[in-house]
Amino acid sequence: MNLCIIGAGHVGLVSAGCFARMGNKVVCVDSDLEKIKLLESGRTPIYEPGLSELLEEVVGNGALEFSGDLDSAVKSSEVVFVAVGTPAKEDGTADLSYVEGVACQIAGAMDSYKIIIEKSTVPVQTGEWIKRTLSLNLPSGIDFDVASNPEFLREGTAIEDFMKPDRVVIGVESKRAEDILTKLYEPLNAEILITDIKSAEIIKHASNCFLAMKISYINAVANVCELSGADIELVSAGVGMDKIIRPDFLKAGIGYGGSCLPKDVSAFIAIAGELGYDFELLKAVEEINRQQQEKAVRKLKEMLWIIKDKTIAVWGLSFKPETDDMRDAPSIKIINALQEEGARIRAYDPAAVESSRKVLQNIEYAADPYEAAAGANAVLLLTEWKEFKNVDLAKLKGLMASPVIVDARNLLNPADAKKAGFEYSSIGRKMPE
Ligand code: UGA
Repeated sequence: MNLCIIGAGHVGLVSAGCFARMGNKVVCVDSDLEKIKLLESGRTPIYEPGLSELLEEVVGNGALEFSGDLDSAVKSSEVVFVAVGTPAKEDGTADLSYVEGVACQIAGAMDSYKIIIEKSTVPVQTGEWIKRTLSLNLPSGIDFDVASNPEFLREGTAIEDFMKPDRVVIGVESKRAEDILTKLYEPLNAEILITDIKSAEIIKHASNCFLAMKISYINAVANVCELSGADIELVSAGVGMDKIIRPDFLKAGIGYGGSCLPKDVSAFIAIAGELGYDFELLKAVEEINRQQQEKAVRKLKEMLWIIKDKTIAVWGLSFKPETDDMRDAPSIKIINALQEEGARIRAYDPAAVESSRKVLQNIEYAADPYEAAAGANAVLLLTEWKEFKNVDLAKLKGLMASPVIVDARNLLNPADAKKAGFEYSSIGRKMPE
């Protein structure tokens, strides 16, 4: 099939690469011409395992091309995916101006039947607005369908998630649209759920909010573990063994971040409120997440007393491992709070240094975890990159001004840290005697 994907962000690029690998002819369009130039030169603007190789393969065999020309990309495609950003506004609602702008442009370019598919995460009823925008701006007599096909990719494993999905959700209003999308996904042999458009839109918000709820729930339980002397790792293991609950998203830490969960929770609260429902449960999920990020700072204070003029070695900046994404990373709020108290920050991250420069100031960057910790008063572990797990604790202790570790992701083994002579604190875990 001839596909056009509008938006060369995480979702757009991964979808474009994967659809091309599945045998389609894909044009990926973005209004950022610098990004298009970069992609055309064979470079990838984001760090996602396997993505550069995938794009090289499908650009190389002619299945994918990049373009800044939305008009001709739409004209040459029957299937048009909208994968532009829907960032959160100050009030928590989703900013849909890019979606609206693209819908107007698509209408201006259409000269024959197209199916226009929301791939970006959008609040329920956005499909209706897209339909209305197209109808208002299209010359009469041109037929179209609108559909919702939310993505369920996790950064770091996005290609695998795309190629082997748990489910493909297709929200449609016509048999013609259903047939096109079912055929498109046929090569994946995945379970497909056909719904109406509004239900598909809500499935996406409800899924991400459920994940956020699981994380806040386990973080709240971790607080009870800490207060009672129980161990959250054992508690999570025991709870997750229930086949209905499952072990995923039961890792206590500093709460959820990233480009999806924080904005989707606030957008779902906002749209529910607009529709007349006060989503108190999700408001509590947000509040627990906020408190959890404060906790890392509180723990450091409990160990160092005064933060002013102390050097803190921050290990990990990205919102999770295997990505350079700093959007809504918990490290931002935590580092800002420490800097407000007068701390010096020396940070190391295997992938996110460049992206962190855009959102953090006055950071000294180190080339490895040991360089970050040399002469530091404490190590604060904020992202569970694998390389921190195997750190040489004896070497580390020898480098630091004082042997203090706050492991806000529960990555290290408390007994090992204690044996190496560290004062060690983590989230909701029982410390060895
Ligand atoms: C999330 C969802 O997991 C995907 O299903 C969804 O498609 C995607 O959003 C999206 O809407 O695009 P992602 O943001 O890549 O994916 O990251 P997650 O793996 O969900 O992690 C989100 C945050 O939760 C991270 O900060 C992570 O550290 C934290 N987390 C995750 C925990 O604190 N504990 C856990 O047990 C799991």
